[in-house]
Amino acid sequence: MSRLLVRDLAQLVSPAGSGAPLRGAALGEVDVVEDGYVLCGDGRISAVGRMRDLSAPLDNVEELDGRGLVAIPGLVDCHTHACFAGDRVEEFALRAAGASYEELHAAGGGILSTVSATRAAGEEALTAGVRRHRQWMLRSGTTTFEAKSGYGLDRETELAQLRAVRAAGGIPTWLGAHAVPPEFHDADAYLDFVLAEVLPEAAGLAEAADVFLERGAFDERQARRYLTACADAGLVLRLHGDQFSEQGAIPLAVALGARSVDHLEATSEGGIAALAASEVTGVLLPASALFLDRPMPPARALVDAGAAVALATDFNPGSAFTESLPLVCTLAATQLQLSPAEALTACTVNAAHVLGRADRKGRLAPGYDADLVLLDAPDWRYLAYHLGHDHVAGVLLGGERAELG
Ligand code: NIG
Ligand code: FE
Repeated sequence: MSRLLVRDLAQLVSPAGSGAPLRGAALGEVDVVEDGYVLCGDGRISAVGRMRDLSAPLDNVEELDGRGLVAIPGLVDCHTHACFAGDRVEEFALRAAGASYEELHAAGGGILSTVSATRAAGEEALTAGVRRHRQWMLRSGTTTFEAKSGYGLDRETELAQLRAVRAAGGIPTWLGAHAVPPEFHDADAYLDFVLAEVLPEAAGLAEAADVFLERGAFDERQARRYLTACADAGLVLRLHGDQFSEQGAIPLAVALGARSVDHLEATSEGGIAALAASEVTGVLLPASALFLDRPMPPARALVDAGAAVALATDFNPGSAFTESLPLVCTLAATQLQLSPAEALTACTVNAAHVLGRADRKGRLAPGYDADLVLLDAPDWRYLAYHLGHDHVAGVLLGGERAELG
């Protein structure tokens, strides 16, 4: 039995309560313990508390000195596109000179340029790529990550992407409806192909399915068709919706019982009310809005209306080239009018809920997986407060110290 005691922590912080997802006032409630400890055994957290309440001495326990450090739950990134080859640095320069993301996409660049590079890479290189990206995420404190396919759009590459994500320790989502690839003339013909030829095997590799419901990608009818087939194959449903325009993503997500609808930069008051009245979680991606110079999602209004929200990076080479959830927390506090506590909950237990893992991930509490981030900071709110700083002094994954190098 391997046991590890992280002792003399300046603080440890965890979303309050035991349910998920947290909404309304509960989103902003965190438990903070000063001068605390976390005891881990067999990959789980067995106890947390104040040092003065620790029944000492414990036998057979390895100790980790937490003086000057703050422990938070391992961060959960519930929306990434971390499996890709190549980059979009040329496009980045064109956008800096005034070209828009939608124009580049319509001209066959954007997502489709990453599709060309990803198709050419081969599974081994894709797996190595996700492992490299996973290491970047770990250094930023992300201990659980989802990653989507969607840069293959052919049978072989879509399935290779899902296997690569799994091999690198990620949770795969089949984004088979991300864009229409150049060899198809229209979205319906492409959907005929993916649903017949890719879905049967993708359903055995992925946990969820996702679709880009947007002008220039898939419309409401096509998204409904894709998602209905994916639900019938046993996949959890997610949508990229309301990124540039409202095309019915929220009503569709609610009607189909989707787990999440992600982006929401273009969501109106009607959409906010519909989401708030539902079980669907809104995943907010402020790094993408920042990177594309787009409006921020109406986070405050969503939370105040009672919607369940999570935060994620949207890490990808085109619209959000960042793996940093601490940066996302800074954006949440400065651009989305969320408190540091709301931001922490949104990228821990609420993000774990989006991934169907809120019973094991996202809290520092007995029974949860021993995934911890140790921040070199005097107060846990430095996570959001110290813009662009690398606070992560250590990461425990299942009670084991992770190699960050
Ligand atoms: O979530 N909007 C669609 N998909 C991604 C971007 C993917 C890309 O640009 O490569 C997003 O922003
Ligand atoms: Fe995305």
